[in-house]
Amino acid sequence: MIRNIVILTGAGVSAESGIDTFRDAGGQGGQGLWEQHRVEDVATPEAFARDPDLVLRFYDMRRAAIQTKQPNAAHAALARLDAAWPGRLLIVTQNVDDLHERAGARRVLHMHGEHLLAWCTACDVRSPWTGPLLDRPPCPACGTRALRPDVVWFGEVPYRMDAIHAALRDADLFVSIGTSGAVYPAAGFVRLARDLGARTLELNLEASQGSRWFHESRLGPATELVPAWVDRLLAQD
Ligand code: OAD
Repeated sequence: MIRNIVILTGAGVSAESGIDTFRDAGGQGGQGLWEQHRVEDVATPEAFARDPDLVLRFYDMRRAAIQTKQPNAAHAALARLDAAWPGRLLIVTQNVDDLHERAGARRVLHMHGEHLLAWCTACDVRSPWTGPLLDRPPCPACGTRALRPDVVWFGEVPYRMDAIHAALRDADLFVSIGTSGAVYPAAGFVRLARDLGARTLELNLEASQGSRWFHESRLGPATELVPAWVDRLLAQD
């Protein structure tokens, strides 16, 4: 019987909302973000130290863009599951957009941070943030002009790994949605969950780097696969 569920989401869940994925065309006919920008130029602590304006401009554009997008049917289905599921449930997202929350999901953990938070490197406070950071605004908490995007860069440790591991230990079902399985530690969650006894299911547009680790992979767009999976799960309960 399934009681506890961990759901890992990646850029593919937001692709049909018009947000670029990182490594492919995302079904939108565009290019993956990392084909348009070098990771080393915009998504590492070294890049921020070397050329902060370039990094801040990049994240200012991304922060502005996500605010023009809307949650899609996959986000809505996951929010419906979150509201209805009586057991433990955790949506661990690698996404830095807020579309899970805007769809109404509550049990969401952003392991790679959030576009809509600014992190003060002077006082360590995170503040809600919707505007630009390029003009070095003062931190709302301490006034220091030392804000950075609250996004985990390559070479930094993802957030709340203890809580994620605790959820994986308890999981009866681990579901991965819209992620390429290219970036660790998230890419390793399937093996961990499986070793700990969970059933594992992948929902993705195409076979991913981690597909072979799942008990089952279903291929197709998230807006079709996720609502169908949620409907069946809730009907079984
Ligand atoms: P990727 O861009 O690596 O992978 C997106 C996955 O979603 C691919 O496997 C696509 O096939 C799939 N996909 C695309 N459109 C889809 C759709 N409509 N429905 C279902 N699946 C679809 O994105 P992530 O796996 O999320 O980290 O990337 C992981 C991390 O790498 C990101 O969080 C980011 C990035 O560098 C950091 O910045 C730290």
